[in-house]
Amino acid sequence: MATPPNILVTGGAGFIGSHVVRRFVTKYPELRIVNLDALTYAGNLENLRDIEDAPNYAFVKADICDAKAVEQVFQEQAIDAVIHLAAESHVDRSISDPMAFVNTNVIGTVTLLNAARGAWKDGDAGHLFYHVSTDEVYGSLHDDSFFLETTPYDPQSPYSASKASSDHFVRAYGNTYGLPFVISNCSNNYGSHQFPEKLIPLMIHNIQQRKPLPVYGKGENVRDWLWVEDHAAAIDVVFHKGRNGETYNVGGHNEWRNIDLVQLLCKVMDRKLGRSEGESAKLITYVTDRAGHDLRYAIDAGKIERELGWRPSITFEEGLDRTVDWYLQNAEWLEHVTSGAYRDYYQAQYGQR
Ligand code: NAD
Ligand code: DAU
Repeated sequence: MATPPNILVTGGAGFIGSHVVRRFVTKYPELRIVNLDALTYAGNLENLRDIEDAPNYAFVKADICDAKAVEQVFQEQAIDAVIHLAAESHVDRSISDPMAFVNTNVIGTVTLLNAARGAWKDGDAGHLFYHVSTDEVYGSLHDDSFFLETTPYDPQSPYSASKASSDHFVRAYGNTYGLPFVISNCSNNYGSHQFPEKLIPLMIHNIQQRKPLPVYGKGENVRDWLWVEDHAAAIDVVFHKGRNGETYNVGGHNEWRNIDLVQLLCKVMDRKLGRSEGESAKLITYVTDRAGHDLRYAIDAGKIERELGWRPSITFEEGLDRTVDWYLQNAEWLEHVTSGAYRDYYQAQYGQR
């Protein structure tokens, strides 16, 4: 019997990675999914409890910067393809500790590329290095235009500079060594299992706890929000149908000013928590702006829609409703991830517990 293709998913214990692992493990029993994750503060095996015993799933705890460990995984697990999501992902943390982003996002990605190159010497057509990236590499929009795949890179934060650098290395390995690759650049994700350092889960948690809702600057920055399971579906389609060497932008056609989004969340939560309308919005507090805060991100997702037939499957109202319900029904998950180190992070970032 032929061995099943082994797909290495890095960062599979994180927010998006766990949705990708779950989708692939359940939808493709003919594939074997190897999840490699260092389990940093953002990695949580609780995210994968429902599929951890599946026969086509394996977990390896390792750091993508550890060349020996990564090479060993490629050899022992006979890795055929990679979906690379492991990264330091939070912009505010990149402002206080840029080196962690250089290490994981740049050096870690190059370490993985080297391992793939070393392992895939046979030139077999089945290999693929899929790099999951961000729209932030394109910089900040100050007019009503959209990011296209051809938009020049102009990263503005240490996080986006590190992701831009990793994108460049992936393309360079494709051009120089013939490594088969695809890249996708996605807008802001939201949904279940997102660590509450990011805007939407942080606001849900604070509304629940009746804590101040810290809106940076005037709240006028704009983000394009996509439901995480629609991102996982896009990753699925790019992995299976994307053309070698191509880039695909992924977005939700769903732009919101931060302040409007926080107001909407307050309204939804007032309804769900049985509070009077307007009660939670009183918690909104304008705080010092993020340094170098990008004004607007907006994706033109026309290429992936035309070429691969992907489209977001649900509306923002529906996605937000499901997301709020998930956090309200998973108080234990939230309690676990907001204890300990989270409190120290919150104190350092917001000046209060
Ligand atoms: P996350 O922070 O929730 O998860 C990152 C995961 O990577 C964690 O499980 C963590 O343990 C793991 N990890 C971190 N450093 C590692 C290392 N050195 N070795 C091995 N594992 C390590 O991130 P996320 O929001 O799920 O983002 C996943 C990917 O998608 C990232 O590459 C990010 O740049 C990209 N992306 C995120 C968004 C978004 O809105 N969250 C949007 C577009 C692209
Ligand atoms: O665009 C894709 C990117 O989206 C991903 O590559 C990143 O990994 C992901 O973290 C996200 O980056 P942002 O910086 O846009 O997301 P964040 O949730 O941190 O912030 C969203 C907006 O909300 C941003 O304008 C900053 C603002 N904000 C955020 C926090 C945490 C606040 O006003 N207050 C807050 O407390």
